[in-house]
Amino acid sequence: MRQKIIAGNWKMNLNRQQAVDLASQVVHGAVAHADTFARRSISLVLCPPALYLEAVLNQTKGSDVAVGAQNAYFQPAGAFTGEISSEMIADLGCTYVIIGHSERRQVFGESDQMINQKLAAVIAAGLQPIFCVGETLAEREAGETAQVIEHQFREGTKALNAEDFSKIVIAYEPVWAIGTGKVATPNQAETVHSDLRKLIGSCYNSSLENSVSILYGGSVNSANAAELLAQPNIDGALVGGASLKADSFMAIAASA
Ligand code: 13P
Repeated sequence: MRQKIIAGNWKMNLNRQQAVDLASQVVHGAVAHADTFARRSISLVLCPPALYLEAVLNQTKGSDVAVGAQNAYFQPAGAFTGEISSEMIADLGCTYVIIGHSERRQVFGESDQMINQKLAAVIAAGLQPIFCVGETLAEREAGETAQVIEHQFREGTKALNAEDFSKIVIAYEPVWAIGTGKVATPNQAETVHSDLRKLIGSCYNSSLENSVSILYGGSVNSANAAELLAQPNIDGALVGGASLKADSFMAIAASA
């Protein structure tokens, strides 16, 4: 069974106490649902702002809830003012790093080439990247979705071998669905997920094609999650706004 992952991307939200409280509530929820989650192979991941990683790790210690960063620079150390490296994130005890989120691409100008370097750095540090791809509304309306996703996938994973690639979790996040309340239909999402899976097969091998988890992100909430997660190639969700409240995040997880 492919690993199902429900990841909360808290983005630049919450203060320290709120982050601690939310993490604690999620850990309690995970304990309450432990049998179901284990049976359905569901993992929870929290991605707080970098400043609160340690506080959240303290809350999740000894639980099944994993913690990830929202970004990492590709150099391991050095004169890169304001940046943090994958080595530092691994040193804290995190498991995941989100790479290539559309907000990083659009607001901070990250290129496919930089995302490729970041994926390699995250894997080299022993962490698992959650590698985001997704088209804009203009690209979808121009009928370019499949090409855009394939381009981002190929450029992002360039020079990564099958061993490296086996560490990656993919997240399909259509830019037009992020923070807009306009969720992709299960059919729209499933089409892209199924294309991504075939692409993994043609770039790597059939074992990876069948084993890599592909998450959907973009306005996922407790009302629409079940239908999305019921699609054969949707293995979980990368949740923004609805991950900021424990009850909606846990309800999404319980519907996986
Ligand atoms: P929303 O769930 O708020 O649309 O955000 C999705 C997202 O960007 C997760 O990474």
